[in-house]
Amino acid sequence: MERLEQYLIENFKWFHRHPELSYEEVQTTARIRELLTEAGIEILPYPLETGLVAVIRGQKDQQTAARAALRCDIDALPIVEQTSLEYRSEIPGHMHACGHDLHITAGIGAALLLQERRQELSGTIKLIFQPAEEEAHGALKILETDVMADVPYVWGFHADPTNPVNVIGVREGYVTAAVDRFAVKVRGVGCHGAHPDDGVDPILAASAIVQALQSIVSRNVNSFHPSLLSVTRITGGTTWNVIPAEAELEGTVRTMDRHDRVLYERRVKEISEQTAAAYGAEAEVEWTAGPPAAYNDGRLVQICEEAARRLGMKTVSEERSMGGDDFAFYEDSDTMGRQVPGCYVKIGTGVGYPIHHSEFCVDTRAILPAARYLAQLLLTGIERIPPF
Ligand code: NI
Repeated sequence: MERLEQYLIENFKWFHRHPELSYEEVQTTARIRELLTEAGIEILPYPLETGLVAVIRGQKDQQTAARAALRCDIDALPIVEQTSLEYRSEIPGHMHACGHDLHITAGIGAALLLQERRQELSGTIKLIFQPAEEEAHGALKILETDVMADVPYVWGFHADPTNPVNVIGVREGYVTAAVDRFAVKVRGVGCHGAHPDDGVDPILAASAIVQALQSIVSRNVNSFHPSLLSVTRITGGTTWNVIPAEAELEGTVRTMDRHDRVLYERRVKEISEQTAAAYGAEAEVEWTAGPPAAYNDGRLVQICEEAARRLGMKTVSEERSMGGDDFAFYEDSDTMGRQVPGCYVKIGTGVGYPIHHSEFCVDTRAILPAARYLAQLLLTGIERIPPF
Protein backbone atom coordinates (compact mmCIF):
# COMPACT_ATOMS: atom_id res chain seq x y z
CA MET A 1 0.00 0.00 0.00
CA GLU A 2 1.43 3.35 -0.90
CA ARG A 3 2.17 5.88 1.79
CA LEU A 4 -0.53 8.38 0.85
CA GLU A 5 -3.17 5.65 0.94
CA GLN A 6 -2.08 4.48 4.36
CA TYR A 7 -2.07 8.06 5.65
CA LEU A 8 -5.56 8.75 4.30
CA ILE A 9 -7.03 5.50 5.66
CA GLU A 10 -5.59 6.17 9.12
CA ASN A 11 -7.06 9.64 9.14
CA PHE A 12 -10.39 8.41 7.75
CA LYS A 13 -10.62 6.03 10.70
CA TRP A 14 -9.91 8.88 13.11
CA PHE A 15 -12.72 10.98 11.58
CA HIS A 16 -15.04 7.96 11.64
CA ARG A 17 -14.34 7.43 15.35
CA HIS A 18 -15.02 11.10 16.16
CA PRO A 19 -18.32 12.08 14.50
CA GLU A 20 -19.66 15.53 15.39
CA LEU A 21 -23.13 16.92 14.63
CA SER A 22 -23.95 20.06 12.60
CA TYR A 23 -22.24 23.23 13.93
CA GLU A 24 -20.44 21.15 16.59
CA GLU A 25 -17.56 20.06 14.32
CA VAL A 26 -14.89 21.53 16.60
CA GLN A 27 -12.47 18.58 16.91
CA THR A 28 -13.08 17.71 13.26
CA THR A 29 -12.15 21.22 12.16
CA ALA A 30 -9.06 21.26 14.39
CA ARG A 31 -7.87 17.97 12.92
CA ILE A 32 -8.44 19.08 9.31
CA ARG A 33 -6.53 22.30 10.07
CA GLU A 34 -3.67 20.36 11.62
CA LEU A 35 -3.31 17.94 8.68
CA LEU A 36 -3.46 20.67 6.04
CA THR A 37 -1.09 22.94 7.91
CA GLU A 38 1.41 20.09 8.31
CA ALA A 39 1.38 19.74 4.53
CA GLY A 40 2.08 23.46 4.09
CA ILE A 41 -1.39 24.23 2.74
CA GLU A 42 -2.74 27.73 3.30
CA ILE A 43 -5.97 28.21 5.26
CA LEU A 44 -7.97 31.35 4.59
CA PRO A 45 -9.12 33.70 7.35
CA TYR A 46 -12.68 32.61 8.06
CA PRO A 47 -15.27 33.97 10.47
CA LEU A 48 -17.26 30.81 11.26
CA GLU A 49 -16.67 28.63 14.32
CA THR A 50 -16.52 25.32 12.49
CA GLY A 51 -15.39 24.30 9.02
CA LEU A 52 -12.56 25.97 7.12
CA VAL A 53 -11.47 26.99 3.64
CA ALA A 54 -8.11 25.83 2.28
CA VAL A 55 -6.50 27.32 -0.77
CA ILE A 56 -4.04 25.91 -3.31
CA ARG A 57 -2.22 28.65 -5.20
CA GLY A 58 -1.05 27.63 -8.67
CA GLN A 59 2.51 28.58 -9.65
CA LYS A 60 2.27 28.16 -13.41
CA ASP A 61 1.69 31.85 -14.14
CA GLN A 62 0.83 35.10 -12.45
CA GLN A 63 -2.90 34.39 -12.21
CA THR A 64 -4.22 34.63 -8.70
CA ALA A 65 -7.98 34.65 -9.31
CA ALA A 66 -10.04 31.70 -8.05
CA ARG A 67 -10.55 29.16 -10.81
CA ALA A 68 -12.76 26.62 -9.02
CA ALA A 69 -14.05 25.45 -5.64
CA LEU A 70 -14.70 22.01 -4.19
CA ARG A 71 -17.22 21.51 -1.40
CA CYS A 72 -16.54 18.80 1.22
CA ASP A 73 -19.13 18.54 4.00
CA ILE A 74 -17.87 17.44 7.42
CA ASP A 75 -20.76 16.78 9.84
CA ALA A 76 -22.24 13.54 11.20
CA LEU A 77 -25.71 12.31 12.22
CA PRO A 78 -27.50 11.56 15.51
CA ILE A 79 -27.57 7.81 14.83
CA VAL A 80 -26.39 4.94 17.05
CA GLU A 81 -23.76 3.12 15.00
CA GLN A 82 -24.41 -0.59 14.62
CA THR A 83 -21.46 -1.68 12.50
CA SER A 84 -18.83 -4.06 13.85
CA LEU A 85 -15.93 -1.94 12.51
CA GLU A 86 -12.87 -1.82 14.75
CA TYR A 87 -12.87 1.94 14.21
CA ARG A 88 -16.59 2.53 14.95
CA SER A 89 -17.87 5.73 16.57
CA GLU A 90 -16.54 6.54 20.02
CA ILE A 91 -19.24 9.15 20.61
CA PRO A 92 -22.48 7.50 21.77
CA GLY A 93 -25.43 8.34 19.55
CA HIS A 94 -23.35 10.03 16.85
CA MET A 95 -22.27 8.40 13.62
CA HIS A 96 -20.71 9.27 10.27
CA ALA A 97 -23.59 7.50 8.54
CA CYS A 98 -23.57 9.72 5.46
CA GLY A 99 -19.93 9.24 4.49
CA HIS A 100 -18.85 12.79 5.30
CA ASP A 101 -15.76 11.22 6.93
CA LEU A 102 -14.87 10.08 3.41
CA HIS A 103 -15.66 13.57 2.10
CA ILE A 104 -13.22 15.10 4.59
CA THR A 105 -10.48 12.58 3.91
CA ALA A 106 -10.82 12.62 0.12
CA GLY A 107 -10.82 16.45 0.25
CA ILE A 108 -7.60 16.43 2.28
CA GLY A 109 -6.08 13.87 -0.12
CA ALA A 110 -7.02 16.02 -3.13
CA ALA A 111 -5.49 19.08 -1.44
CA LEU A 112 -2.20 17.19 -0.85
CA LEU A 113 -2.07 15.97 -4.46
CA LEU A 114 -2.79 19.43 -5.85
CA GLN A 115 -0.30 21.07 -3.54
CA GLU A 116 2.38 18.71 -4.93
CA ARG A 117 1.46 19.66 -8.47
CA ARG A 118 1.00 23.38 -8.00
CA GLN A 119 3.72 24.18 -10.57
CA GLU A 120 1.29 22.86 -13.22
CA LEU A 121 -1.61 24.87 -11.88
CA SER A 122 -2.84 28.32 -12.93
CA GLY A 123 -4.89 30.39 -10.54
CA THR A 124 -6.31 29.39 -7.21
CA ILE A 125 -8.45 26.48 -6.02
CA LYS A 126 -10.59 26.73 -2.91
CA LEU A 127 -11.45 23.65 -0.88
CA ILE A 128 -14.44 24.34 1.31
CA PHE A 129 -14.72 22.08 4.37
CA GLN A 130 -18.31 22.98 5.13
CA PRO A 131 -20.15 22.52 8.44
CA ALA A 132 -23.79 21.52 8.93
CA GLU A 133 -24.88 19.95 5.66
CA GLU A 134 -27.24 17.63 7.54
CA GLU A 135 -28.95 20.61 9.11
CA ALA A 136 -29.36 21.92 5.52
CA HIS A 137 -28.09 25.47 5.99
CA GLY A 138 -24.30 25.19 6.47
CA ALA A 139 -23.78 26.23 2.86
CA LEU A 140 -25.65 29.48 3.52
CA LYS A 141 -23.25 30.24 6.37
CA ILE A 142 -20.35 29.91 3.92
CA LEU A 143 -22.22 32.07 1.41
CA GLU A 144 -22.59 34.79 4.04
CA THR A 145 -18.79 35.09 3.97
CA ASP A 146 -16.92 36.27 0.85
CA VAL A 147 -15.43 32.82 0.13
CA MET A 148 -17.52 32.24 -3.00
CA ALA A 149 -17.45 35.82 -4.28
CA ASP A 150 -14.73 35.17 -6.92
CA VAL A 151 -15.43 31.47 -7.61
CA PRO A 152 -16.65 30.85 -11.20
CA TYR A 153 -17.98 27.31 -10.71
CA VAL A 154 -18.23 24.73 -7.96
CA TRP A 155 -17.79 20.96 -7.62
CA GLY A 156 -19.64 18.80 -5.10
CA PHE A 157 -19.58 15.08 -4.49
CA HIS A 158 -21.10 12.38 -2.32
CA ALA A 159 -20.19 8.90 -1.16
CA ASP A 160 -22.32 6.40 -3.07
CA PRO A 161 -23.02 2.96 -1.55
CA THR A 162 -24.96 1.87 -4.65
CA ASN A 163 -21.77 1.68 -6.73
CA PRO A 164 -18.48 -0.21 -6.43
CA VAL A 165 -15.13 1.50 -5.83
CA ASN A 166 -13.69 3.24 -8.93
CA VAL A 167 -17.14 4.03 -10.34
CA ILE A 168 -18.31 7.64 -10.75
CA GLY A 169 -22.01 8.47 -11.13
CA VAL A 170 -22.75 11.65 -13.04
CA ARG A 171 -25.49 13.06 -15.25
CA GLU A 172 -26.56 16.40 -16.68
CA GLY A 173 -29.58 18.18 -15.20
CA TYR A 174 -31.24 18.07 -11.80
CA VAL A 175 -29.81 15.42 -9.48
CA THR A 176 -31.18 16.37 -6.05
CA ALA A 177 -34.54 17.91 -5.14
CA ALA A 178 -35.50 21.23 -3.60
CA VAL A 179 -36.47 20.56 0.02
CA ASP A 180 -39.32 22.52 1.59
CA ARG A 181 -41.13 22.00 4.88
CA PHE A 182 -44.70 22.94 5.70
CA ALA A 183 -46.70 22.93 8.91
CA VAL A 184 -50.47 23.44 9.13
CA LYS A 185 -52.31 24.48 12.28
CA VAL A 186 -56.03 23.67 12.10
CA ARG A 187 -58.28 25.51 14.58
CA GLY A 188 -61.79 24.31 15.40
CA VAL A 189 -63.94 24.48 18.53
CA GLY A 190 -63.43 21.89 21.25
CA CYS A 191 -66.40 20.04 22.76
CA HIS A 192 -67.58 16.76 24.31
CA GLY A 193 -66.92 13.73 22.10
CA ALA A 194 -70.60 12.81 22.46
CA HIS A 195 -71.77 16.25 21.25
CA PRO A 196 -69.82 17.06 18.06
CA ASP A 197 -72.70 19.36 17.07
CA ASP A 198 -71.55 21.72 19.85
CA GLY A 199 -68.10 22.26 18.31
CA VAL A 200 -65.99 22.23 15.14
CA ASP A 201 -63.82 19.10 14.79
CA PRO A 202 -60.26 20.05 13.72
CA ILE A 203 -59.22 16.38 13.42
CA LEU A 204 -61.80 15.71 10.70
CA ALA A 205 -60.74 18.88 8.88
CA ALA A 206 -57.03 17.95 9.19
CA SER A 207 -57.78 14.47 7.80
CA ALA A 208 -59.54 16.00 4.80
CA ILE A 209 -56.53 18.29 4.25
CA VAL A 210 -54.13 15.31 4.28
CA GLN A 211 -56.22 13.60 1.58
CA ALA A 212 -56.66 16.72 -0.54
CA LEU A 213 -52.95 17.69 -0.51
CA GLN A 214 -52.12 14.58 -2.54
CA SER A 215 -54.17 16.02 -5.42
CA ILE A 216 -51.40 18.56 -6.05
CA VAL A 217 -49.00 15.97 -7.43
CA SER A 218 -51.66 14.21 -9.51
CA ARG A 219 -53.80 17.18 -10.66
CA ASN A 220 -51.68 20.36 -10.58
CA VAL A 221 -48.09 19.45 -11.49
CA ASN A 222 -46.90 18.64 -15.01
CA SER A 223 -46.72 14.83 -15.17
CA PHE A 224 -43.18 14.94 -16.62
CA HIS A 225 -41.80 16.83 -13.59
CA PRO A 226 -40.65 14.74 -10.60
CA SER A 227 -42.18 15.96 -7.33
CA LEU A 228 -43.74 14.65 -4.14
CA LEU A 229 -45.51 15.71 -0.98
CA SER A 230 -45.40 13.69 2.25
CA VAL A 231 -47.39 14.46 5.39
CA THR A 232 -45.11 13.05 8.08
CA ARG A 233 -46.70 14.15 11.36
CA ILE A 234 -50.28 14.67 12.51
CA THR A 235 -51.23 15.46 16.09
CA GLY A 236 -54.33 16.62 17.96
CA GLY A 237 -56.34 15.82 21.03
CA THR A 238 -55.52 14.53 24.51
CA THR A 239 -58.04 11.80 25.22
CA TRP A 240 -60.76 9.56 23.74
CA ASN A 241 -63.92 11.44 24.61
CA VAL A 242 -63.04 15.08 23.94
CA ILE A 243 -62.94 16.77 20.55
CA PRO A 244 -59.93 19.11 20.75
CA ALA A 245 -59.80 22.72 19.62
CA GLU A 246 -56.67 22.26 17.49
CA ALA A 247 -54.83 19.78 15.31
CA GLU A 248 -51.50 20.08 13.55
CA LEU A 249 -49.86 18.46 10.61
CA GLU A 250 -46.43 18.73 9.13
CA GLY A 251 -44.61 17.43 6.08
CA THR A 252 -42.23 18.00 3.23
CA VAL A 253 -42.45 18.90 -0.44
CA ARG A 254 -39.73 17.84 -2.91
CA THR A 255 -39.48 19.36 -6.38
CA MET A 256 -36.91 19.78 -9.13
CA ASP A 257 -38.50 22.53 -11.23
CA ARG A 258 -38.40 25.95 -9.60
CA HIS A 259 -41.89 26.87 -10.88
CA ASP A 260 -43.31 23.71 -9.29
CA ARG A 261 -41.87 24.87 -6.01
CA VAL A 262 -43.87 28.09 -6.19
CA LEU A 263 -46.97 26.16 -7.33
CA TYR A 264 -46.76 23.78 -4.34
CA GLU A 265 -46.45 26.60 -1.86
CA ARG A 266 -49.54 28.32 -3.28
CA ARG A 267 -51.63 25.11 -3.51
CA VAL A 268 -50.70 23.83 -0.02
CA LYS A 269 -51.96 27.14 1.37
CA GLU A 270 -55.14 27.22 -0.77
CA ILE A 271 -56.08 23.61 -0.10
CA SER A 272 -55.39 23.81 3.63
CA GLU A 273 -57.26 27.08 4.18
CA GLN A 274 -60.23 26.29 1.96
CA THR A 275 -60.65 22.66 3.04
CA ALA A 276 -60.58 23.77 6.67
CA ALA A 277 -63.18 26.42 5.84
CA ALA A 278 -65.43 23.77 4.25
CA TYR A 279 -65.49 22.06 7.67
CA GLY A 280 -66.08 25.30 9.54
CA ALA A 281 -62.47 25.36 10.81
CA GLU A 282 -59.50 27.62 10.09
CA ALA A 283 -56.05 26.65 8.85
CA GLU A 284 -52.80 28.54 9.06
CA VAL A 285 -49.84 27.36 6.95
CA GLU A 286 -46.20 27.94 7.74
CA TRP A 287 -43.82 27.33 4.81
CA THR A 288 -40.05 26.94 5.35
CA ALA A 289 -37.87 26.87 2.25
CA GLY A 290 -34.78 24.64 2.32
CA PRO A 291 -32.09 24.17 -0.33
CA PRO A 292 -33.04 24.36 -4.02
CA ALA A 293 -32.47 21.44 -6.42
CA ALA A 294 -28.85 20.79 -7.51
CA TYR A 295 -28.37 21.13 -11.26
CA ASN A 296 -25.42 19.57 -13.07
CA ASP A 297 -24.11 21.84 -15.81
CA GLY A 298 -23.53 20.00 -19.13
CA ARG A 299 -20.01 21.31 -19.67
CA LEU A 300 -18.94 20.33 -16.18
CA VAL A 301 -20.45 16.86 -16.64
CA GLN A 302 -18.13 16.33 -19.63
CA ILE A 303 -15.16 17.26 -17.45
CA CYS A 304 -16.29 14.72 -14.81
CA GLU A 305 -16.32 12.04 -17.50
CA GLU A 306 -12.95 13.08 -18.90
CA ALA A 307 -11.33 13.08 -15.43
CA ALA A 308 -12.65 9.54 -14.85
CA ARG A 309 -11.33 8.37 -18.24
CA ARG A 310 -7.88 9.77 -17.49
CA LEU A 311 -7.72 7.72 -14.29
CA GLY A 312 -9.23 4.58 -15.85
CA MET A 313 -12.35 4.90 -13.69
CA LYS A 314 -15.77 3.98 -14.98
CA THR A 315 -18.68 6.44 -15.23
CA VAL A 316 -22.33 5.47 -14.93
CA SER A 317 -25.53 7.50 -15.07
CA GLU A 318 -26.06 9.12 -11.68
CA GLU A 319 -29.25 8.10 -9.85
CA ARG A 320 -31.37 11.17 -9.24
CA SER A 321 -32.70 11.63 -5.72
CA MET A 322 -35.71 13.38 -4.19
CA GLY A 323 -33.41 13.93 -1.23
CA GLY A 324 -31.70 17.31 -0.98
CA ASP A 325 -28.18 18.63 -0.48
CA ASP A 326 -27.38 22.17 0.57
CA PHE A 327 -24.63 22.07 -2.09
CA ALA A 328 -27.37 23.47 -4.34
CA PHE A 329 -27.17 26.81 -2.45
CA TYR A 330 -23.70 27.41 -3.95
CA GLU A 331 -25.19 27.11 -7.43
CA ASP A 332 -28.39 28.97 -6.84
CA SER A 333 -28.83 31.10 -3.83
CA ASP A 334 -31.91 33.33 -3.86
CA THR A 335 -30.78 35.14 -0.76
CA MET A 336 -27.38 35.96 -2.26
CA GLY A 337 -28.89 36.77 -5.64
CA ARG A 338 -26.23 34.96 -7.66
CA GLN A 339 -25.90 31.77 -9.62
CA VAL A 340 -22.79 29.82 -10.58
CA PRO A 341 -22.60 26.58 -12.55
CA GLY A 342 -21.94 23.48 -10.50
CA CYS A 343 -21.75 19.73 -10.72
CA TYR A 344 -22.44 17.12 -8.03
CA VAL A 345 -21.04 13.64 -8.63
CA LYS A 346 -21.40 10.36 -6.78
CA ILE A 347 -18.25 8.44 -5.90
CA GLY A 348 -18.68 4.67 -5.50
CA THR A 349 -17.77 3.54 -1.96
CA GLY A 350 -18.66 -0.16 -2.31
CA VAL A 351 -22.18 -1.57 -2.52
CA GLY A 352 -23.79 -1.88 0.92
CA TYR A 353 -26.27 -0.33 3.36
CA PRO A 354 -27.73 3.03 2.24
CA ILE A 355 -26.57 6.37 3.66
CA HIS A 356 -28.20 7.36 7.00
CA HIS A 357 -28.40 3.63 7.93
CA SER A 358 -26.87 2.55 11.26
CA GLU A 359 -24.77 -0.06 9.42
CA PHE A 360 -23.62 2.17 6.54
CA CYS A 361 -19.91 1.90 5.91
CA VAL A 362 -17.36 3.05 3.36
CA ASP A 363 -14.96 0.54 1.78
CA THR A 364 -11.58 2.03 2.70
CA ARG A 365 -10.29 1.05 -0.77
CA ALA A 366 -12.46 3.91 -2.10
CA ILE A 367 -10.51 6.62 -0.27
CA LEU A 368 -7.38 7.04 -2.38
CA PRO A 369 -9.28 6.76 -5.72
CA ALA A 370 -11.73 9.40 -4.45
CA ALA A 371 -8.87 11.77 -3.55
CA ARG A 372 -7.18 11.22 -6.92
CA TYR A 373 -10.42 11.70 -8.77
CA LEU A 374 -11.20 15.01 -7.07
CA ALA A 375 -7.68 16.32 -7.75
CA GLN A 376 -7.95 15.24 -11.38
CA LEU A 377 -11.39 16.83 -11.68
CA LEU A 378 -10.10 20.18 -10.46
CA LEU A 379 -7.05 20.05 -12.76
CA THR A 380 -9.04 18.96 -15.82
CA GLY A 381 -11.61 21.69 -15.18
CA ILE A 382 -8.90 24.36 -15.09
CA GLU A 383 -7.32 23.00 -18.28
CA ARG A 384 -10.61 22.89 -20.15
CA ILE A 385 -12.49 25.93 -18.91
CA PRO A 386 -10.86 29.27 -19.68
CA PRO A 387 -10.76 31.83 -16.88
CA PHE A 388 -14.04 33.72 -16.52
NI1 NI B 1 -24.44 13.42 2.99
